[in-house]
Amino acid sequence: MTANWTPDSWRGKPIRQMPAYPDPAALAAMEGRLGKYPPLVFAGEARRLKAALAQVAEGRAFVLQGGDCAESFGDFTANIIRDTFRVLLQMAVVLTFGAGVPVVKMGRMAGQFAKPRSSDNETIGDETLPSYRGDIINGPDFTAQARIPDPARMETGYFQSAGTLNLLRAFATGGYSDLHQVHRWNLDFAARSPLAARYQDLASRIDETLAFMAACGMTSAAIPQIRETDFYTSHEALLLPYEQALTRVDSTSGDWYACSAHFLWIGDRTRQPEGAHVEFLRGVKNPLGLKVGPTTTADDLLRLIDTLDPANEPGRLTLISRMGADKVDTLLPPLLRAVRRAGRKVVWLCDPMHGNTISTAQKVKTRDFDAILREVRGFFDVHAAEGSWAGGVHVEMTGRQVTECVGGAHQLTEADLGDRYETFCDPRLNAEQSLELAFLVAEELKARRDPGALPVAAQ
Ligand code: PEP
Ligand code: CO
Repeated sequence: MTANWTPDSWRGKPIRQMPAYPDPAALAAMEGRLGKYPPLVFAGEARRLKAALAQVAEGRAFVLQGGDCAESFGDFTANIIRDTFRVLLQMAVVLTFGAGVPVVKMGRMAGQFAKPRSSDNETIGDETLPSYRGDIINGPDFTAQARIPDPARMETGYFQSAGTLNLLRAFATGGYSDLHQVHRWNLDFAARSPLAARYQDLASRIDETLAFMAACGMTSAAIPQIRETDFYTSHEALLLPYEQALTRVDSTSGDWYACSAHFLWIGDRTRQPEGAHVEFLRGVKNPLGLKVGPTTTADDLLRLIDTLDPANEPGRLTLISRMGADKVDTLLPPLLRAVRRAGRKVVWLCDPMHGNTISTAQKVKTRDFDAILREVRGFFDVHAAEGSWAGGVHVEMTGRQVTECVGGAHQLTEADLGDRYETFCDPRLNAEQSLELAFLVAEELKARRDPGALPVAAQ
């Protein structure tokens, strides 16, 4: 048990980004209700993920974490879930087969509903209303009614998470993820994408490999890893009343687990060492993430690591760097060195999205695919130069062909953003841009394994 910690000890700490619920009794009643519902994940699964992440911390595997910036109650359909899952599978296959590393797959799915905002209010014309904070808190419409935080939304979020998770589990183990389906995952945009031929070529090589393996007696029937995959869920642990309500003691170990998802992370706006979010997460045994943005100092980071991972347990803590393409090469190295000098065994991921958000002249939030790629490359270069393992990527993406980020193989421009701009929060990579990113990452990974291909400075 963690010293001086209880599931509600966060309530005594300063908290940021907490919605102002107008009816505390309704909030308390909802927390009581959710507290009796079944957990969404089982502690044993979180431990399994932690063990997989420990492999990443040792440089033996790679993490792919992706999904919406914010899931929404309106987008709760099988097709939307399937499409995002499918692109994540495609990306994972590109990385596993293209670069020869095992890939730990985590969706920003089945619970990624609460959003931190840079301002408490939003003003349009002469009207000012509370900001939209994600569907689990209030509604996106710009009306006074929609913007009132409503605890009933937590229950909807819980059931939507349960439904999404149920389908993801079915896809992961029920045959959809069988490697023999690798061609079919590509069907939707096969005809129009420049990436399709590249993906089909890789899929054909996988087919050949599977045929060879089958001839040697290694079939899907005999080897579960061919017909199933491990897929984990994750989200930002922002809405602490909800997270606390889903926190349970694991009967096998006696430890506390946050059972809303396998992996929870602390956002860049709520990582105060003495704050409520750090307090809550330090006491649950799940694998945790911590966003590391440009204002993070080495001292802060070491203090947070001490608090969140006092036992220096590999797989417990994943640091998610989100510096921006122009800053990663100057801001990341001192942090990497400080962590290494302190002997800390962490996983490092690159979130190339949140440091690269820009606004167009029309005030549309977008991200430039080139900047995203530059940050990923910069992240790999810094790790190579420091002799540490670039452990994975964390991206905001969707399986649909939205037009939210500019650039990529189809050279989307600002003028295209109006076509299919569907996000309620940050701009996401579409299916094709996601796949393109996976190919780039696979190349980087391969180059690191073959030192002859490294840039001179990194050798
Ligand atoms: C996010 O991941 O959606 C997010 C808000 O990120 P950050 O905390 O890094 O800004
Ligand atoms: Co975001």
